[in-house]
Amino acid sequence: MTEPLWEDDERPRVGAMGPVKVRVPAKINLHLGVGDLRPDGYHEVTTVYHAIGIFDELTARPADGLALTMDGEGAGELALDDSNLVIRAVKVLAAATGRDPHARLHLRKQIPLAAGLAGGSADAAAALAACDALWGTGLSREDLASLAGRLGSDVPFLVLGGTALGTGRGEAVSPVLAPGNAWHWTIAVAEGGLSTPEVYRELDRLRAAGEAPAAAGSTDEILAALRQRDAAVLAKSLVNDLEPAALAMRPALRSTLAAGVAAGALAGVVSGSGPTCAFLCRDADGADLVAEALAAGGECRWARTATGPVPGARLV
Ligand code: C5P
Repeated sequence: MTEPLWEDDERPRVGAMGPVKVRVPAKINLHLGVGDLRPDGYHEVTTVYHAIGIFDELTARPADGLALTMDGEGAGELALDDSNLVIRAVKVLAAATGRDPHARLHLRKQIPLAAGLAGGSADAAAALAACDALWGTGLSREDLASLAGRLGSDVPFLVLGGTALGTGRGEAVSPVLAPGNAWHWTIAVAEGGLSTPEVYRELDRLRAAGEAPAAAGSTDEILAALRQRDAAVLAKSLVNDLEPAALAMRPALRSTLAAGVAAGALAGVVSGSGPTCAFLCRDADGADLVAEALAAGGECRWARTATGPVPGARLV
């Protein structure tokens, strides 16, 4: 967590003329154990986050005010005002470092909205990294991760990237030390989103009715599976407590999950609060076949392959 954002000789200086470009990945959860609802409205979680190679890109230029434009996934649907996590991130960084929140930002989105891939959180992480570089504030990754926690539970992980353990409401992250291995995924993005708070509420309702299991156990099994570097072993350990809730709200996802496995995936799991499904595959060719089958079968809006882990928000 103390790794700097730049080698010393690349660190932008105060007043850098920009543009500064940051690339940030999507995330899936290899393990998402959801515990009790806390008094602050969040659930206690134990999760293993995993950053995958589907990226948003944020470009920041110097300006006399603050402006955000975007293109790609969700353009035209996402408010670009103070409710946008990018704008909130810029303001949080400015307040914490005594700067004016000035930047002209352009967001190029590939990560779909409300998909369970933490796209909004990723963009907030990118905004912190981009404005830190643009303004020359030079915060450490640890400092940025701590500001990130104020913006959303998943934002600190998107600053860090890789594979990491998340506790608390997800904001307390620590890297998982696993041997370098590229895991091959197919990501199937559904038509329309799901609201994260509603999915958590549905899980509470299902549990109260005795229709969903209690919190998944420890992360020991998934962490051991990551160390074994065997996709078939990892496939057996994927778990997401939010999956029954997402399936109750979007029953068609059952057919998507079954179709991915029928096409050769080792396992399929709803990503975070859904409705995206993530399929672990044996290799790149296997992932291609699953993506083709899901797209051809009309099981999703789009499907593509991605490998993980990849780094968090980084200057490019
Ligand atoms: O942290 P973030 O703003 O992304 O969370 C969005 C919503 O998801 C929260 O307002 C809460 O309803 C739900 N949530 C939760 N427990 C968590 C994380 C999120 O209940 N650990």
